[in-house]
Amino acid sequence: VDVFLVVDKGDVKAELVDVRQEVLRRFASESVYRIVDIDDPGRDPSIAYEAAVARWHLDRLQGFEQALITEVDDDQCAGILVWGDPSLYDSTLRIVEQVLERGQVRFQYRVIPGISSVHVLAARHRIPLNRIGGSVLVTTGRRLREGLPEGIDDVVVMLDAQCSFTVLVGQDFDIFWGAYLASPDEILIAGPLDEVVNQIVQVRSEARERKGWIFDTYLLRRQEG
Ligand SMILES: C[S@@+](CC[C@H](N)C(=O)[O-])C[C@H]1O[C@@H](n2cnc3c(N)ncnc32)[C@H](O)[C@@H]1O
Repeated sequence: VDVFLVVDKGDVKAELVDVRQEVLRRFASESVYRIVDIDDPGRDPSIAYEAAVARWHLDRLQGFEQALITEVDDDQCAGILVWGDPSLYDSTLRIVEQVLERGQVRFQYRVIPGISSVHVLAARHRIPLNRIGGSVLVTTGRRLREGLPEGIDDVVVMLDAQCSFTVLVGQDFDIFWGAYLASPDEILIAGPLDEVVNQIVQVRSEARERKGWIFDTYLLRRQEG
């Protein structure tokens, strides 16, 4: 890789950019490469969700396109470091396809799998995600609040800024929760939801206050019987 494109979400999540740069320092130290920052304005919370996401993705798309045109020569290779694995709640692959569709720049690309926070969560709690022959739903906090679909007993929740697990209190679920997984700040809490719910809400709020941001994900598992 000659040029790494690194999306910069501003001060709050500067740590996420630092982690990528640390990965490069450790694992690409022998190579000669440049890092090009792409500003990511994020989603504008003042406009409707779908419209805000569309606007944000267009900005990001143009950022990638511009960087490929101006920063990467025809015989060079660019790399994008994606958080976790790009197959889960990540727009990078959609954006790359859209850049190709717009036809301003031509390239081939491949995807190298990463380790998703979901897999770190399962490993840290030493659990499989599914029960024998069972299904697992991977969803967002927003969707969880709309209600669990019929027959779903195991659900992984990501992108939850609002402690949506509280909607299942009193319904016989266990929770396996993790924040800042795979980092030195990692926090793990597990147990019957009704018993640990207050602890998670409090620990989450304190951690978010302390660091200015939080990434957490969890598995909710309906208790047997
Ligand atoms: C935009 S998605 C990216 C997911 C990423 N592609 C992955 O494979 O983990 C961000 C969400 O993933 C989860 N997440 C990402 N990194 C995490 C971490 N280190 N610890 C806990 N949850 C994390 C959180 O639910 C967060 O809201």
